Order: sequence, then structure tokens, then C-alpha cells
Amino acid sequence: MAAEYVTGLDIGSFSIKAVVLSHKGKVPKLFSFGSIVAPQPGIFSDAEPDLEIAAKAIKNLLISIKVPSGSSIVIALPESKIFTRVITDLPFLTDEELVSAIHYSAEEFVPLPVDQVNLYWQVISRSKQHNNTQVFVVASPKNTVNKYLKTLAYVDLHPSALETELIADARALVGNNPFTPTTLIIQLGATSSDYAVVSKGVILLTRSIATGGMALTRSICQYLNFEPTQAEEYKKAYGLLEDQLGGKIYQALKPLVDIIISEASRVIQSFQTQNPQNHIKRVVLTGGGAKLPGVVGYFANTLGLEVQEADPWQFIEKDSNVSPKLLENGMHYTVAVGLALRQE
Ligand SMILES: Nc1ncnc2c1ncn2[C@@H]1O[C@H](COP(=O)(O)OP(=O)(O)OP(=O)(O)O)[C@@H](O)[C@H]1O
Ligand SMILES: [Mg+2]
Repeated sequence: MAAEYVTGLDIGSFSIKAVVLSHKGKVPKLFSFGSIVAPQPGIFSDAEPDLEIAAKAIKNLLISIKVPSGSSIVIALPESKIFTRVITDLPFLTDEELVSAIHYSAEEFVPLPVDQVNLYWQVISRSKQHNNTQVFVVASPKNTVNKYLKTLAYVDLHPSALETELIADARALVGNNPFTPTTLIIQLGATSSDYAVVSKGVILLTRSIATGGMALTRSICQYLNFEPTQAEEYKKAYGLLEDQLGGKIYQALKPLVDIIISEASRVIQSFQTQNPQNHIKRVVLTGGGAKLPGVVGYFANTLGLEVQEADPWQFIEKDSNVSPKLLENGMHYTVAVGLALRQE
């Protein structure tokens, strides 16, 4: 039987987020949520003591938001640690034939022996008439999966599922409404920026680059000779607002934000080349970096597309006693919401 409560747990490099949803009613309902600053190096280390510290911090977070004892837990693997590919050139295949075709294709895009990864896939389309199968494939290194499971097991947490951040983002922001316009989700995290093109509820293209919010803060440190804490504050206060502080913060951030936008342009171009009939109609910014002042306008002007801030709570019922102020600027919760929206 599906669990009544599902907890989405997003273990980021900057912050750890958890969202609990109740699936009792027709519409998933917000039970509780919260976040903590991620211990360093935390889960990104390979040393047992670091992993134990991360596990304890996670446990404390879950206790503080009163996760119900029967809740299942769903976690995400960082995009930077997994390999994904949309395979479009397969003939019409049965489920059985697909298994071996995917293993064979994985050898091409996974830079590890295929027996060292777990393969997960989702059929995008399958047509006998056009003799074609399209499938979205995720390869997760068994090492990484085991590390996450081992870490959580220190505090007796046993996830019922592991997903990827972008699959969770897509579920929270687009859902499976076939009428939603084709969307480019850009997740602005602390260590990476991740991209997914989602059409009719299905991911058709993903990408990840190692430029994120931490690099933006570092750039302010270097440009203005600031301490990291001070740079972080200035980033959050002035961001890309050119008319603030003589444009100094803007100048420090612009080159890096332009790298993130160039990659977005490349993603758009490559998607349009592969799908000339299917136009990307809008861009949705998510992750903590989506809170950067001026970021929506800057992306919109540069990309020439409609750009929106993510609203991770849009498909969720909220009690009237949950303050809208708390939910505002909750873009960093998108992955955790998407994970908690998963139903077995
Ligand atoms: N108001 C704000 N303005 C600008 N940047 C912000 C703001 N709030 C948070 N950030 C930045 O967002 C980043 C954290 O976002 P998020 O919580 O999504 O990252 P994460 O999930 O921990 O990182 P990753 O997924 O890359 O491991 C940090 O770099 C932080 O500086
Ligand atoms: Mg993240």
C-alpha cells in the first residue's frame, strides 16, 4: 500500500531541505517542511565521520519538522553525479528488447563499466507505425547510491526511492499536464546549474554545469576583496541590480551568470535542432539562486523568452494557518516538493 505521508529529502551542498506531504486526500497536502545549512563537507566526503555528521544533521532536521513515523522517504541524487540521456534512434521494441537495447546504448554515454551503474528509464514514446522508440535513461553509479544509502542508514533512515533532482523539479513545476507549454527548467544550485527541457510532463533533454551560487559568491570576494559571509550578504541584497552600489556587485556576477545563460542557449538550440516542431515557450528558474535580485529580468532580456520564478507549492494544498510569507521565496524547496509528490 502506498504510504500516507511521503518525505522528500534534498541533500544539497549548501542546504538540506525536507518537505512532508500527506497523500490522504485527492490533492497532496503540505504537512511540514524545513531546511538546515549543510554540514561541510558532509555527504560529499568519502570519510565515515563526515558522513555520520551529515546523517545526524539530517535526522535532526526530520525530527524538528515532526516527520510522521510511518512516512516513506524519497531522496535525490545530484545531477552532477549521474548520467542521463534521451535515446531517440531505437526501432519499435518490446519491453524485453528495450532492456538490452538500453544496456547497449548506456555503454556509449556512461563513462563507467555498465555493471557499475543502476539504470532507470522512462519510455517517452513508442510507435509501431514509425518503427521508433524514445526513452529517457538515467544511469546512477552504484558507488554513489550506496554511499547515500549507507549514510542514511547510520540514523536508521531507509529511503523507499532515489530519483534525480531534475525529475523531481519537473514533477513539482510542470506535473504531467499535457497542455503545459514546453518548458526549460533551470535549477540554480550552490555548486551546479542544471537544465531540463520538459514537454508534456516528460523530460526530453538534461544538462548540468559546475557553475553555481558558490562561484557567484567567490567572484564577489575576489572582485571586492570581501569575506565570504559579507559577499554572500551583498549577493542576496543587490544581485544583478545594475543601479545598486555603483553596479559593483552586478559587474562581479555578470561574467558567471553569462556562463549559465550561454549554457541555457546551447540547451535551447540543441533541443530546437532535435525537435524543430516543439518550441520552448518558457523558462522557469528554481533553486536558491533563483532568489538572486534581478535574475528573472536579466535572463528574460538575454534569452528573449518568458522567464518565471518557480512556485514549488502550486500543486499542493496548504492549510490556511501556513503563513504565505513562509512559502514565499521557497524556490530552494522545489526538489524536496517534487520528491514528496512521488507516489509509489
Ligand atoms: N536571496 C538569495 N539571493 C541570491 N542567492 C541566494 C539567495 N538565497 C540563496 N541563494 C544561493 O542559493 C544557493 C543555495 O541554493 P540551494 O539551496 O538550491 O543549493 P543546494 O541545493 O544546497 O546546492 P546544490 O544543489 O548545487 O548542491 C547558494 O549559493 C546561496 O548563496
Ligand atoms: Mg540543490
